This record gives sequence, structure tokens and C-alpha cells, in this order.
Amino acid sequence: MQEQFDLLINSYVDNNVGIADHFLSKNLSDNLQQNIYDLQQGGHMKYAGIGNEKIADANQQMRGDKIYWLDKKNNNIKEQEFLDKVEDFIDHLNQTCYTGINDYEFHYAVYGQGSAYKKHRDQFKTDNNRKFSLICYLNDDWVAADGGELVIYQHDKPQTISPTAQKAVFFKSDEMEHEVLLANKCRMSITGWLKRV
Ligand code: OGA
Ligand code: NI
Repeated sequence: MQEQFDLLINSYVDNNVGIADHFLSKNLSDNLQQNIYDLQQGGHMKYAGIGNEKIADANQQMRGDKIYWLDKKNNNIKEQEFLDKVEDFIDHLNQTCYTGINDYEFHYAVYGQGSAYKKHRDQFKTDNNRKFSLICYLNDDWVAADGGELVIYQHDKPQTISPTAQKAVFFKSDEMEHEVLLANKCRMSITGWLKRV
């Protein structure tokens, strides 16, 4: 576990984009994927920004994913295992990089076939609590033709990252411009933010 944490942090320190290919165990990735199937079945995954129709509408042109927030109150043992791992990672990050992270928020995300998320940054203008973005992918057997890559715009040549199961990606929320390319089949992840509040 510690090894994956160090991989993620060291690649972040080297290139501003941390990548660890086996951040999640296969078992945890499978179980979280199953949680998403259950949430979909129960009709719980909602377009981001829903509640205010105008915002939801504008958002949907920007992003086509449906989300559901993780919460300890959901009393889901697999979700808890994921959040425990996040808390261990935060402890490790704070100890090694003096980042002072003291809060987090994560949601499941599903991009249906034909959806994407246009180029953006993750920090809101009105709220600078989000310090780091951490994305974990849950897609088995993802191939190039499936699309849905995360593209990060940092250098002249954008960096393209395939959303394969167990992988985690980590970057600074206010700095890094990124987008999700059109997914040609259902694309699942857990996306979240490490915060200082
Ligand atoms: C986001 C986001 C990237 C991804 O949810 O803000 O940029 O690869 N996600 O899912
Ligand atoms: Ni983003």
C-alpha cells in the first residue's frame, strides 16, 4: 500500500501528475464497480448539478457524467474501505509533503456511452478549499477504442491517461487543466478532492 502511495506522490513531485497503476486492489476496484451498478439500478446516480435546472442544463453541456457522493453514513463496507485508504493516503501525504490536508469529498462517476467532460480546472473561483484532485478508475479491459481518456494540459504535448481499473491519478486542483474525452462505452470512476478548510 505504502509503495503505491509513494509511487503516486513521487510521480506527482516529478511531473505534477501523479499516477499509480495499482492504487486500488483488484478486489476493491471490483467491489466499488459493483456499488456503481447497484446505485444505477436503484436510480441514485444523478447528473451533476441537478436541483437547479438552469445550472444542471449548463453543466450537462460541459459534463455528461452522473454522480453519487460517498458518505460514511451510507454504511457501505466497501465504500468505507475506500475512504479508509484515502485517509491513510492523506496521512502519508501530510507527513511527507506537509500539505495540511484536513478534509475530503469523493463521488462515484459514470460516463455513459457518448459522454465527456470538457476542458476545465477543478477549483471553483468562489471556493479554494480543493487542493488536490484524486481520481481512481474502475474499468476492466479498457482498450484504446473505448476512448474516455483523461487528457492533462500541462506541456506543449498533452498527456493522455487511459482510465483502467485500479489506477489513481493525482494533481493540484487549481493548476491543472484537464478534460475527459468522449467515452465509447460506460466509464466508471471515483473522483474526489483533498481539501484544506
Ligand atoms: C472531474 C474530472 C476526470 C476523470 O470529475 O472533475 O475531471 O478522468 N474527472 O474522470
Ligand atoms: Ni476535473
